[in-house]
This record gives sequence, structure tokens and C-alpha cells, in this order.
Amino acid sequence: MDFKFKKYWRKTGLNLKWGNELVEIVKQKKPNHFLEIGVFCGVTSRNICELLNLIHRGNFTYTGIDLFGDEIEDNKEVKPSYVTNQKFSNPFKHIYYNLYLKENLNSIDSVKKFLQKFGNKVNLYKGNSNKLLKHLDIKNIDFAFIDGGHSYQTTLNDIEAVHQNMKGRKGTIVCDDYQDASYITDVKKAIDYYVKKENLSLRLIEGKFAVIEI
Ligand SMILES: C[S@@+](CC[C@H](N)C(=O)[O-])C[C@H]1O[C@@H](n2cnc3c(N)ncnc32)[C@H](O)[C@@H]1O
Repeated sequence: MDFKFKKYWRKTGLNLKWGNELVEIVKQKKPNHFLEIGVFCGVTSRNICELLNLIHRGNFTYTGIDLFGDEIEDNKEVKPSYVTNQKFSNPFKHIYYNLYLKENLNSIDSVKKFLQKFGNKVNLYKGNSNKLLKHLDIKNIDFAFIDGGHSYQTTLNDIEAVHQNMKGRKGTIVCDDYQDASYITDVKKAIDYYVKKENLSLRLIEGKFAVIEI
């Protein structure tokens, strides 16, 4: 299938190389129910919805969780600057989004609009994953892309919540930002701890994506 990751002239956490790496894993696994923790401006969301729509002819769901501007009470979580301000290096994007549309791309309304063609296949939740995942029904999720809070505790909580709900079924968990080129991240520490504790297999893609297959 000839499908390539697009940026849709928005801001994205993944560049084209890494977007396409994720697309390849999704093409292989063909999940029906995708969860993304850390939606940001919805670019990965949109790519995944387009891809799953092609693969399953509409028979899929996408669930996305993000703070969408909410405060984080845990002071160990580093609040990324893009949550509070929307700066663009491209001046045309600044004019278009900030001055003309006056649209915050990391808001639930903006992402809803961006994904509206997929109708009720898309479920978006605004809030802290540490709290939301305790109440959300994610029992049918068969693929999770974990890319929300990058502190040790949030990463651990996110993986645990997803894994406990996937147990006994087939599923895939991909965590972004396993290891920075120059230092060991909290994300890596949390993944290594959980994988060892639960005796899971871990596959790394160039040190960045940590893939756990269940
Ligand atoms: C690196 S960005 C995600 C990039 C996105 N996956 C993409 O591919 O474009 C991280 C996002 O996680 C969200 N976030 C951070 N901590 C969170 C938390 N505890 N719960 C939910 N979302 C969180 C931030 O608001 C931010 O939008």
C-alpha cells in the first residue's frame, strides 16, 4: 500500500522519517482500535485515521488523549512550551493560524475539526492521562502510541494502563523518545523497568521508538 506520512501544514511531534516508521508498523499490524496518548496538533492522528480507513474501509476507531492546554498538577512533569504558546518558525503559518484563523492547533476544537471527516470513529479526550486512563474504557485497544507526558511516572502509568487492558490479547505498544542520542531519558527508565517487571519483549527502532509486542 502506497501511503506516506504527511504534515498537513501543521505542527507535528514526528518528522517525516519517524512518521513513516510509525506508518510502516501500523501497516504491518493492521490494528482496528488505535490509542494515541499525546495528540498535540493531530498530525499523527490524521495520518493514522487516513491509513486505518484505507486498510479497514472505515471499520476502525481512533482514541486520542491530550492535555489540550490543561494544567499539569504534578510538578515533576515538564510542561512543554508549545502547550502554552504557539510559535511558528514559518511566518506564513503565524499569519494564517495566529492572525487570520486565530486557531490554537493544540486545542480539542482544532483537532476535532481536523479529524471531522472520520465522524464517530474518532474519540478525543482532554485531560491528564494519569487520571483519564483510570476511567476510560480502553479494553478494545490493540495498538497504542504513547507520546504524552515524558516524566518517569507518567510514562510508567501510561504503559501500565495500556498493557493491563491488552493482557490476554494481541496488541502493540509503541513509545516515542525511548532514548535521546546524548542522555538516558525518564521514558527509557520507565520502559526498561516495566518491561523487566512484566517479562515483555522490547524491540528498539534506532533507539527512538520502543516497540512492545503482546
Ligand atoms: C510530543 S507531543 C505529542 C506529539 C504527537 N504524538 C505527534 O505525533 O504529533 C506531547 C503531547 O502530550 C501532551 N501531554 C503531556 N503530558 C500529558 C499528560 N499527562 N496527559 C495527556 N497529555 C499530555 C502535551 O499536551 C502534548 O500535546
